[in-house]
Amino acid sequence: MNILKSWRTYRILLGILTTLFSFYVCKNDSEFTSVQDRFPGRAWAEPINVQKSLPGLNGLTAKDCGSCHEDHYKDWKISAHANAFTDLQFQAELSKPNSPQWLCLNCHIPLSGQRKEIATHLKDGNVFQPVLVPNKKFDPAWEKEGISCGTCHLKSDPQGNTVLIGPTGAKAPHPVEKNREALHTRCNDCHNQDYILNLSLVCYFKTGDEYKKSIHFPKEDCVSCHMPSINRRVVLPSFQMGKKNSHRHTFIGGGVPKTFALFDAQWKGYQSGLKIGEPRWVFSEKEGVRLSLTLENTLAGHSVPTGDPERHLMMEAILQDKDGKEISKEIQKIGQNWEWYPEAKLVSDNRIRSGEKRNIDWVLKTKLVSEPKFGILRILHVRLTKENAEHMKKNSNFASSEIGKKIKNIELYYPFANIFYESKIDLITGKISLTSKDKLLEISKRGDL
Ligand code: HEC
Ligand code: HEC
Ligand code: HEC
Ligand code: HEC
Ligand code: HEC
Repeated sequence: MNILKSWRTYRILLGILTTLFSFYVCKNDSEFTSVQDRFPGRAWAEPINVQKSLPGLNGLTAKDCGSCHEDHYKDWKISAHANAFTDLQFQAELSKPNSPQWLCLNCHIPLSGQRKEIATHLKDGNVFQPVLVPNKKFDPAWEKEGISCGTCHLKSDPQGNTVLIGPTGAKAPHPVEKNREALHTRCNDCHNQDYILNLSLVCYFKTGDEYKKSIHFPKEDCVSCHMPSINRRVVLPSFQMGKKNSHRHTFIGGGVPKTFALFDAQWKGYQSGLKIGEPRWVFSEKEGVRLSLTLENTLAGHSVPTGDPERHLMMEAILQDKDGKEISKEIQKIGQNWEWYPEAKLVSDNRIRSGEKRNIDWVLKTKLVSEPKFGILRILHVRLTKENAEHMKKNSNFASSEIGKKIKNIELYYPFANIFYESKIDLITGKISLTSKDKLLEISKRGDL
């Protein structure tokens, strides 16, 4: 009897528990979505799950690779990739209270060992409510490396083993899996993505699509232009390997580096995508001064500029009197225009497409106070606008005190732009002089652009 009674109680209890459990599971199912289900097929939905090391190596950080691949390491150190985490603008945006940090980090520090915490699920599928699990394998030095060597050279196979990918399958102290194709297509996992997170937060980089429509497709690709070939040793001389076809790992793009100290190194490899025709300045009784020139995108395999929506070119036309005093200035912008409120929307886009030749015809409408003697044309490649820098300063308290202090004085640490073209004409004699590349570097390095 007692046994029967307790058996019944047990069954009732079991029933209640089962109901509660299934209720919990179902509720859990509907509340928490795995990040892969939320962003199916997106390479950046999750970090790349990597081991701490591989046979033959002491570790997988860029510094570890650099102990043998010294030249690759030196190249990479000057790139924006190596600064993708420490970047002050990135840190400023990341620290804002409404930033979906886990998602930003999936592209800016994509290896699991670089992550303090890993997002496994999203509550109600909401990117702003991730379930974060602390990561025991976190290495803070690796975190600072941003887009480290392993971003492109490491992957996780279906068994969860870490694999090192190389272009030729050369024999090395570490295992190498030959897959040149995977190395070349990797760029688009980050450089050809767009998605809408909420009304005012969108991610929009379509460089890969622009490339497919470019005059260079398919003969050249991201790698042939941004990682040019160079014949050199691939490892330290002590390995006694001969020189071979290698690739620069500087990933130079628009020539505006992440710190002033990197300007010299990047400027050497930087070339504008535009062929800029000789400007023509013509006096016109009625109009003032008319300026015309052609800009042709011959060298870039995508629009100029490309990538981040904030990037743009700024053309400044200036008239000066005989004493060099500015008497008028006109500005034109080449880039995308977005409206962010109440809803993010691309309003206009006048970037110069690959292969496009654009005639710029421009009247300097001016109430001339004195006779113009010189005409100056300048073109800047802008990465960060002054207005945006002001917003960053206002929000700098959200960042750590060390980074916040730098953001408050961002113009001292972070180049906003470069100046890649300048010419000056004597309007009376018609003589034009071009500012040299060295001089442009000197002006750009001074900052305040
Ligand atoms: C102990 C020295 C050493 C370290 C450390 C090292 N490598 Fe290597 N690696 C080599 C040697 C030697 C070769 C072959 C070079 C040759 O063929 O000229 C090589 C070749 C390669 C290749 C070319 C493979 C191919 O398919 O052609 C890649 C890619 C590579 N290493 C990446 C890495 C990465 C990434 C790291 C860090 C995770 C790393 N290596 C760390 C010594 C090293
Ligand atoms: C995991 C994501 C990721 C991958 C993969 C990736 N990049 Fe990038 N790339 C970035 C980020 C993030 C930045 C910007 C960093 C910053 O500005 O702080 C960047 C910047 C650049 C720049 C701009 C440099 C500049 O000076 O403005 C170039 C060029 C570039 N990448 C080329 C490539 C190429 C070529 C590949 C493929 C071989 C590639 N990237 C693969 C994330 C990635
Ligand atoms: C953004 C992607 C990316 C990053 C980051 C990257 N590599 Fe590479 N790497 C490539 C690509 C692409 C190739 C192959 C190019 C080819 O052969 O067509 C390559 C080739 C190599 C090779 C073979 C020799 C050569 O120069 O072609 C070595 C060695 C190498 N990388 C080492 C490194 C090391 C060390 C780092 C970090 C300091 C690093 N890579 C970072 C994309 C990357
Ligand atoms: C035919 C050569 C070529 C190809 C192909 C090419 N690029 Fe570029 N890229 C350039 C040049 C030149 C610039 C500098 C543009 C400028 O500032 O005038 C540039 C600039 C960039 C920038 C910096 C943003 C800017 O506008 O300055 C990024 C990012 C970039 N490229 C990524 C890529 C990616 C990703 C691919 C492949 C999908 C790619 N590029 C293919 C030549 C090329
Ligand atoms: C899909 C991958 C991806 C994700 C996710 C991502 N980024 Fe980026 N980010 C990039 C690439 C690629 C670039 C380089 C684009 C370029 O230079 O043209 C970049 C560049 C940047 C830059 C530098 C822009 C410049 O002109 O110097 C900042 C700042 C930045 N990202 C912030 C963020 C923040 C904040 C988030 C999260 C809300 C985020 N990113 C999420 C890929 C990504």
